[in-house]
Formats: sequence, C-alpha cells, structure tokens
Amino acid sequence: MKILVTGGLGFIGSHTVVELQNEGFEVVIIDNLSNSSEEVLNGIFNITRKKPVFEKLDLREKIAVREFFAKHTDIVGVIHFAASKAVGESVENPLLYYENNLNTLIYLLQELQQKPEASFIFSSSCTVYGQAELMPITENAPVQQAMSPYGNTKQIGEEIIIDVAKVSNINAILLRYFNPIGAHPTAELGELPIGVPQNLVPFITQTAIGLRKELSVFGSDYPTSDGTCIRDYIHVVDLAKAHVVALQRLLDKKNQEKVETFNLGTGTGSSVLEVINAFEKVSGQKLNYKIVARREGDVVEAFANTTKANETLGWNAQSTLEEALESAWKWEKKIRS
Ligand code: UD1
Repeated sequence: MKILVTGGLGFIGSHTVVELQNEGFEVVIIDNLSNSSEEVLNGIFNITRKKPVFEKLDLREKIAVREFFAKHTDIVGVIHFAASKAVGESVENPLLYYENNLNTLIYLLQELQQKPEASFIFSSSCTVYGQAELMPITENAPVQQAMSPYGNTKQIGEEIIIDVAKVSNINAILLRYFNPIGAHPTAELGELPIGVPQNLVPFITQTAIGLRKELSVFGSDYPTSDGTCIRDYIHVVDLAKAHVVALQRLLDKKNQEKVETFNLGTGTGSSVLEVINAFEKVSGQKLNYKIVARREGDVVEAFANTTKANETLGWNAQSTLEEALESAWKWEKKIRS
C-alpha cells in the first residue's frame, strides 16, 4: 500500500518513513528541503535497505500538488508532517506560517477529498492545550487561545480537517505530540537544527560537544519541585511507531469517529534539571549551564495522559528518558565527527 509522507526528510518524518517501510508499506516522500537534506534518504536506506520514492516539491504550489496526485493515483494514506515549527519565527513572520502550514494542508485535502476514500494523519501539538489546568493532560482538556501563530496553525489545521472530514470520504487522526527528542539508535537519522537550536535537547547536545558555550536554563522559580519547567519528552522512534499504528487503524476502518485525537507522550513529566542530570549520567559529561530568566511563552508544565492512546491504539512509549538522551548524544557525536 502506497503512503505519502509529506516532510518525510524531516526529524519525525524520516523516523516514521523507517517504521512504515519496516511494516511493509511503500512510501513516497514529498519534501521541499527547506529544513532538511536529501542525505536523509541515505540514512533511511542504511536502516531499512529500501529507498523510498522522493519528490522535491513545495506543497504551497497548488498546481504541482495536483500534478503529483495525478501521477500517484494509488496513494491510500497521507501522513502530513510538512510544516514550519519555530515558535519565535512564527511571531516574526506570521504569514509565512499561515501560508506554509495552512495553504499546504488545504491543497492536500482538496486532492484527497476527490478520492473514494482516504486516510489522513496530522501532526498536531500539545501546544493546543496551552497551560492546561489538570495534569496529566487528557484529550478532553480544552483547547486554549494559541500563544503564537505557529500554535494557531495547529489549532486551525485541526479545525479544517474536522470540517472537511464531515463532508468527504476522508478519515483522519490528529496526533498531539508532547516533546519529541532523541534519534534513531543506529545514529543514521536524527535532528538537524539549522542555526542555534531553540529546543532543549539539541541545545544540550550541542553544548556538550562544544558548539555552544553554555546552556541557559529558562527560569528556576516556577511552582515545580525544583523550580524548572516540566515537559513530557518522548523518544522520536516511539512517536514514529504511533503514526504507523494510527494509520493502520484508519486503513483497517477501526476508527470510531471520522476524526479521532490522541495525545502522544510518555505520561511522565521531567523538569529541565532532571533532563540535564539524566544527560550527564548517560554521556558521562558535565554540562555547562546557568539559570537565567524565564522564557516568554513557556508553560509551567505539560505532560500527557496516555490512557486513550494506550487503550485505543494499543500503543505505549517504550523508551526511557535516558535512552532517548543517549540516542541524541550518539547522533550529535556522529554528525560532528
Ligand atoms: C516548543 C514549542 C512547542 C513545539 C515544540 C516543537 C513553545 C512555547 N513551545 O515546546 O509548541 O511543538 O517546541 O519542538 O515554544 N529550555 C531551556 N533552555 C533552552 C531551551 C529550552 O531551559 O535553551 C527549557 C524550556 O524553558 C522548556 C523546556 O526546556 O521548559 C523545553 O523547551 P523546548 O525544547 O523549547 O520545548 P517546548 O517549549 O516545550
């Protein structure tokens, strides 16, 4: 069965392509290489011994999207990762985010709704919950006013899919990720942040390897056990596997609603200092860090209630925080060697 993976050369996309190929799916990747590289195809090949079909294409080009689907008429499912994801950049350039994350979604759905049936998996984010009142966060927690254009594109994206599914043959699953980290255990694939990383784990590994002088810990006066923010860090391979399970559910027509939503996390919250300690343990390195002021827009804590994903999808995150950090460190060492 042929599956389209948009953004399939990116961090989560590439790991998902590996899991899809391992499960016997035929994969076609669309990527515009704006935040990825064609070399990722070699990493995928080295792990799976299969090279997916790759088409360099920008999903903002509506005609090109139409031509792509006219050529690949046998696509039965789409996993849609292609999107911009830097919160700060989205505040500075909102139209780039609305165009990149929403026009592309609309063009894809316009093609899919012409099919007799289609399965669609959407990359959403726990950012839709804002600072949730209750921990752990269930899928029923209210969606709150987005704090950035990036967050808003995820909320609007979810709404677009829900509206379109009502009047088409598209069935969809919205996957709300908590904090994806780590790399493939083979170190053939991992995260390749361009410029200064905004996210915690790539900043940690780049500091440890000597690319950054020190890590700034944003705030130690939060109402948490050690004063630093709490997040739910999930290994990217676990996350990738959840996509395959979700897709299979749609293909098997086991979904109970036209659009279902799942949180994807480990269910465990870790503070920034706990992440640093775990990293120091697995790497055997002392990390240079200092406590600085809070970062604007950060929520105090966010970790998932994973019961729905566990019971309905039969999926559980398997890797520990330490394993995820170990894989991120192995990857960092490999790409700098
Ligand atoms: C961020 C986005 C989220 C997005 C995700 C994508 C915000 C508010 N949220 O999540 O919408 O889906 O990235 O990957 O931007 N930290 C430091 N020092 C650093 C970097 C981070 O102390 O140099 C702390 C942060 O304050 C936070 C934690 O580490 O408490 C995790 O930060 P980060 O990796 O940026 O993820 P989120 O902000 O949770």
